[in-house]
Amino acid sequence: MANGVRTVSRVVRPTPVLEGAGVRLKRTIATRELDYLDPFLLLDHFGSDNPDDYLAGFPMHPHRGIETVTYMLAGAVQHRDSLGNAGIIGAGDVQWMTAGRGIMHEEMPEPRDGRMEGFQLWVNLPAKLKMTQPRYQEVLESRIPGLRREDGSLIKVIAGTLEGIEGPVTEIAAEPTYLDLTLAAGARFATPVPASHTAFAYVYRGAARFGNASEEVAGPALAILEGGDEVAITAGERGASLLLVSGAPLGEPIARYGPFVMNTRAEIEQALRDLRNGTFVR
Ligand code: FE2
Repeated sequence: MANGVRTVSRVVRPTPVLEGAGVRLKRTIATRELDYLDPFLLLDHFGSDNPDDYLAGFPMHPHRGIETVTYMLAGAVQHRDSLGNAGIIGAGDVQWMTAGRGIMHEEMPEPRDGRMEGFQLWVNLPAKLKMTQPRYQEVLESRIPGLRREDGSLIKVIAGTLEGIEGPVTEIAAEPTYLDLTLAAGARFATPVPASHTAFAYVYRGAARFGNASEEVAGPALAILEGGDEVAITAGERGASLLLVSGAPLGEPIARYGPFVMNTRAEIEQALRDLRNGTFVR
C-alpha cells in the first residue's frame, strides 16, 4: 500500500563509537544493528560538553564514492582538503560534500561557548557518479529557510521542498529531503514523501510519535518510517527536535571499506592502490 501515513518499522538506538583520532560519537546507521539504509550509508551524532571527547578530530583521511553531509547545531568544524578548500562550518551551517572519485580532507571540531554538536550523514552515489569530480555545497545558516509556526515550532529546510519552499542544497542524485524540526510540546507536523523513497527520523531531543502510533520514540534514536506517502509527527509533552531525511534508494550492490563505498570489491582495491600510488586525488 503506497497511500497513507508511514509507520515506524524499526527503532535503532545509537551505538557509542570512537572514530577519527578519538572522537566519541553516537552512530545509528553503519552499525551492527543497521548496516545501511539505502541510499544512506552512515549517520553520526557527535557532541559533548567535554572537549576531550572530540578535540583530536578527524585528521587527513580519504573518501570515494559517496557524499558526506555535515550539519552543525553548536560549535564549529574547521576543515581543509586536498583541492585547496578550507573553511569553518559553524552552528546552523551545512556542508554537502560530493567526494566522487576522491578527496582527502581534515575535519576538526571546536567548541563555541563550551558547546559542540552536529551530525554527519553519508549518502551513496549511483555507479555512474561514483567517480565524478568532487564538489562542495557550503551553505551558511542565513541561507537555510526556516518556517516558523504559530505554536513556536521551527522547521529548517536544508534540502528538498516543504510547502513550496526549496532548501539551498540541490542537484543531489538521491533527490533527498533533509529537514531539521524543532517542534513545540504536542505540535503536529505532516508532509508528503514519495512512496518509493526511504525515510527516517532521527530524534535528538525530546520524544515524538509517528503516524497513528500511540508509542513515543524518545531520543536519541533513529526511527525508520515505512509504507506510505506521508510522514506525520506529533511531538511529546516536552517537545521534540529531530532530523527528517528521505531519499531515493539506489538498489545497487555495495562494497564498503572504511571511507570508500563502491559497487565492487575490485573498485575498493583500486581505491587502495590509488592511495598507495599517490594517484588518489587528481
Ligand atoms: Fe571525512
